[in-house]
Amino acid sequence: MRVVVVGLGYVGSVCSACLASRGHHVVGVDTSDWKVGHIRDGKSPIVEAGLADLIAESKAAGRLTATTRIAEAMPGADVVLVCVGTPSAPDGGLDLAHVKRATAEVGAAIAGSGRFTTVTMRSTMLPGSVEGELQPVLERAAGGRAGEAFGLAYNPEFLREGSAVADFFGAGYTVIGAGDEKSAAALRAMYEGVGGEMLVTAIRTAEMLKYVNNAYHALKVSFANEVGRWAKREGIDSHQVMALFCRDTKLNLGPSYLKPGFAFGGSCLPKDLRAMNQRARRHDLVLPVIASILESNDRHVDEAVHLIERLKKKSVGVLGLSFKAETDDLRESPILRVVGTLVGKGYSVLLHDPNVDMERVLGANRRFVEDEVPYLPERLRADMRDVIAGSEVIVVANPGAAFAGVGAMLAPGQALVDLAHAVDPATVTRGEYHGLAW
Ligand SMILES: NC(=O)c1ccc[n+]([C@@H]2O[C@H](COP(=O)([O-])OP(=O)(O)OC[C@H]3O[C@@H](n4cnc5c(N)ncnc54)[C@H](O)[C@@H]3O)[C@@H](O)[C@H]2O)c1
Repeated sequence: MRVVVVGLGYVGSVCSACLASRGHHVVGVDTSDWKVGHIRDGKSPIVEAGLADLIAESKAAGRLTATTRIAEAMPGADVVLVCVGTPSAPDGGLDLAHVKRATAEVGAAIAGSGRFTTVTMRSTMLPGSVEGELQPVLERAAGGRAGEAFGLAYNPEFLREGSAVADFFGAGYTVIGAGDEKSAAALRAMYEGVGGEMLVTAIRTAEMLKYVNNAYHALKVSFANEVGRWAKREGIDSHQVMALFCRDTKLNLGPSYLKPGFAFGGSCLPKDLRAMNQRARRHDLVLPVIASILESNDRHVDEAVHLIERLKKKSVGVLGLSFKAETDDLRESPILRVVGTLVGKGYSVLLHDPNVDMERVLGANRRFVEDEVPYLPERLRADMRDVIAGSEVIVVANPGAAFAGVGAMLAPGQALVDLAHAVDPATVTRGEYHGLAW
């Protein structure tokens, strides 16, 4: 394929050389004469393991060249990869000025070219940037619509500086945010044989994914460093702790706990975090990530209350009271804070949980109910249908198997608030569906 790479910095020079080494014909473009000169001479403009050899080989094979002019590079292009910088603006936002300038030039070159070129953004940009800010620039310059006159895509770049070449050939996955079928097909063809699993999604999803990945990586670094600072004060080997932590690939390193749902609760996580925070304070240690976890959880509970309040209805039925499905443990269950707030504000509230039967609530759980949620027993109903029939708003608070069919049980005018991602919105044919964070 004929590929144009706009921007020959850390991202663009690696993409150019790696794609050329796969047999594609690549023309790199940069405003810097120095970088263009280096590529033309078969030399690497950046320090990156393995890159200099790839550039030299590709140049010698006649598959990699460079220019300072986008218009000169564009004729015959199947795919354009825009890899120019997106620096921070003074307010912390994103400066898209370079991308817009480059995009306008790409669009102008597409106008009247008679060829379907897939314009692919690789620079990191906030969700909505491609379709909201760059698509209009391209359409104006190209004189045609995205998906018809040209293809539009977003392909986030996950290569790590220092091992970018190895990452390119051994990528875990390649994500293609495509605005149309032809663009998805063009990028699939370009990456064939490299880039791991190929996943096609919407452009906005791909834009967001890049930020979510980076935020998570940063969170992991900060979390591990905070564990290290705490461990040092305790005289414990932080590397031993984290090596053991990493051995649990079921609960620690893996997809567990990584799906948006309701707040955490129960008898362990809140208590243990409070104890950790108290110990850190005693050490005079500042661990902002760990200290903010309970605060973040509280905000999630508040959001559930706000969502219910915004519906402006006064009778609420809550399904699922325990802190997670298939247990009767009510201690520190976050939905009870929502229920307490609603009761305090004068809402009429009915409750149901298939695992909670006041006759059988014993021990610590019973004391918790008597002390903390005395309003619970009188509002509890054994039959879910009584709660649904008597409420304008039905709140599903945990993903209990019994609640999956609630969507189909709604009457017109009723609203379902799903706090646990437990109900398929497609099953709500007669009422309204409101998800907490989806
Ligand atoms: N560096 C990384 O490891 C990495 C990883 C993932 C994503 N990203 C993102 O990729 C983008 C590029 O990052 P980078 O580190 O390669 O930046 P960089 O600053 O190293 O390179 C950007 C290049 O674009 C060129 N350029 C600017 N305007 C141009 C124009 N109008 N026409 C042609 N060339 C132009 C610049 O001269 C520069 O060489 C950024 O959005 C960044 O956030 C970077």
